[in-house]
Amino acid sequence: MLKPISSRSSLAILRRSQISSIYKNGVTSASLHSTPAIQRESLGDFALTDRVAIVTGGNRGIGLEAALALSTAGSRTVYCLDLPEKPGEDWNAARQSVAKLGGAGRLEYVTIDVRDQKRLLKTVEEIATKEGRMDICVAAAGISGAARPCLEYTEEDLEEVYAVNLKGVFFSAQAAARQMDRFRMPGSIILLASIAGSVALKAILPYNTSKAAVIQMARVMACELAQKNIRVNSLSPGFVETPMTTAIFSAQPEFQTIWSEQSFMNRLGKPHELRGIMTWLASDASSFCTGSNIVVDGGYTAW
Ligand SMILES: NC(=O)c1ccc[n+]([C@@H]2O[C@H](COP(=O)([O-])OP(=O)(O)OC[C@H]3O[C@@H](n4cnc5c(N)ncnc54)[C@H](O)[C@@H]3O)[C@@H](O)[C@H]2O)c1
Repeated sequence: MLKPISSRSSLAILRRSQISSIYKNGVTSASLHSTPAIQRESLGDFALTDRVAIVTGGNRGIGLEAALALSTAGSRTVYCLDLPEKPGEDWNAARQSVAKLGGAGRLEYVTIDVRDQKRLLKTVEEIATKEGRMDICVAAAGISGAARPCLEYTEEDLEEVYAVNLKGVFFSAQAAARQMDRFRMPGSIILLASIAGSVALKAILPYNTSKAAVIQMARVMACELAQKNIRVNSLSPGFVETPMTTAIFSAQPEFQTIWSEQSFMNRLGKPHELRGIMTWLASDASSFCTGSNIVVDGGYTAW
């Protein structure tokens, strides 16, 4: 039996063939039969040290949480791309807390409309040129659109939602992937889908169908880009408390209770509860994961 080892750095000098289990403080902490090397940083394969990211919809809500998650894991710069001319209070507070982390990381804000493909391609190219790399893209810009019975939707209703949730998500992923390819670097692209892409949520047909398309978009892009070492996955959260859902509850408060009761956990999620999955998907810890749709929904779709 192996003796307990006292420091994480000493793990790095052990060969995998020598290790069947490792004891740290008297507790088995890892089984390393197939682990080729062990990172020395405290976050291990989850570390995003020196990486550069873009996050669309990064001014607030899930996008801003993603930016915080990526920064906390060590990213050098996270560019938050969003519609308003100036970022909001939440973003400014997030920027300050990233600065307080004391590392080299920072948040930057860029005003952009993800529906504008040409401008997005140019802006992301400029960011990558300035930083000398592009590693991560989180495409979180999205809208819920109007809620109506499906028999009443107009062409304009559909186009409004598809322009952002479908085309905008694709343009963002495309812009980032071009730069990952240009710099011949591995990359991770996370497309924000929703459980609405896999199960039907009533009265929001354009949103449901746009999210189903995003799940398929991730699969198709993952297939095409795997040889370039660019991974593409979709993330499907259940209901999460953000400005998007708060606006829905202001108009129809009953939804807060209905959506909570339909989750095993009897509550909505908090944006910070997506930080772990964002970090995992963005990092080398998920290096064998591409073309997947990851569901994080408090059990909403488990029954
Ligand atoms: N909140 C939820 O319960 C939930 C659940 C599943 C999936 N999602 C998805 O997660 C993503 C983020 O949602 P959220 O709840 O944080 O929403 P949110 O409304 O709080 O944030 C969305 C952000 O996207 C930005 N945006 C919208 N249109 C844009 C455009 N054309 N160009 C650039 N930016 C634009 C908005 O300005 C906003 O900052 C969306 O794709 C949403 O569909 C949300």
